[in-house]
Amino acid sequence: QTTYTDKGEKPEKGKFVKFHHVTFWVGNAKQAAVFYCDKMGFEPVAYKGLETGSREVVSHVIKQDKILFVFESALNPGNEEMGEHLMKHGDGVKDIAFQVEDLEFLIKKAKERGAVVVKEPWIEQDSYGKVKCAVVQTYGDTTHTLIEYLSPYKGLFLPGYNAPVVKDCLLPKLPPGLLNFIDHIVGNQPDDAMVPVSDWYQNCLLFHRFWSIDDKQIHTQYSALRSIVVTNYEETIKMPINEPAPGVKKSQIQEYCDYNGGPGVQHIALNTSDIIQAELKILVDFDDKGYLLQIFTKPVQDRPTLFLEVIQRHNHFGFGAGNFKSLFEAIEKDQDARGNLTVYN
Ligand SMILES: [Fe+2]
Repeated sequence: QTTYTDKGEKPEKGKFVKFHHVTFWVGNAKQAAVFYCDKMGFEPVAYKGLETGSREVVSHVIKQDKILFVFESALNPGNEEMGEHLMKHGDGVKDIAFQVEDLEFLIKKAKERGAVVVKEPWIEQDSYGKVKCAVVQTYGDTTHTLIEYLSPYKGLFLPGYNAPVVKDCLLPKLPPGLLNFIDHIVGNQPDDAMVPVSDWYQNCLLFHRFWSIDDKQIHTQYSALRSIVVTNYEETIKMPINEPAPGVKKSQIQEYCDYNGGPGVQHIALNTSDIIQAELKILVDFDDKGYLLQIFTKPVQDRPTLFLEVIQRHNHFGFGAGNFKSLFEAIEKDQDARGNLTVYN
């Protein structure tokens, strides 16, 4: 396990401020949003759809403290982009949006260094304010939207969104979720793709390595993985990048890639300051300075792909290496039940 202290040179201009929101492309956005509200303590906050003049795509935005998730589905038959995405990946994360400063500089730098810009900078505005956005391609079909506030935004979410149309009567009766912000978002890669992807973040987004771990440290009796965590200069955005490593049986990272149809977001970790309220079977990791507590959900859709983590930190900035073994053994049990803990080849 390696912790890096060299943040590299401070970028001359531009800044990644924080995770802004995560967009999921799903078969039924209305129902998916309700699942996260009822199970995880989110609340509907904004909406875009037929009623607001959005004729192609519906978006349900839910919120918990600083965490914003957006669920999107196609409204019309024949939406090839969203249809093919759904056919290939199933329900999952399409885009991780970052709030930035000096978007034009960041996009120019990313382009110079070989990043694919999916959508050149454009402006979104309504009577509540004005933002500039751009979209870059990262691993697989996943993208990053960069968002810069050109004026303080006073609306519910972003320009173009209205109040939610659905009222969930169950929500006021449920206990609060106590989740506060996105701690990290992990991307699974196929064999030998971890280093090129982490290099992409370092080159194109001016991130640096924060932490890494190899398969000698993360393995069970059967399977293994490697991981590199990259982060922005201010270290407010943490993006661990995983790849499978050879073992006796198929790595859980490979199982993910098989079912996701290639690389994609494996889990989203949500930070809380009160994990005990949340659940049982808490995993603990520590060093001489502090500790962290973690809980992992099972996959949140039928495919064994995306799952969630709840994490509470006490002066500990690792990613639970000491817990990986027990987590992986739990996942392997499920992997075996799915008929996927097969011999490595
Ligand atoms: Fe994690």
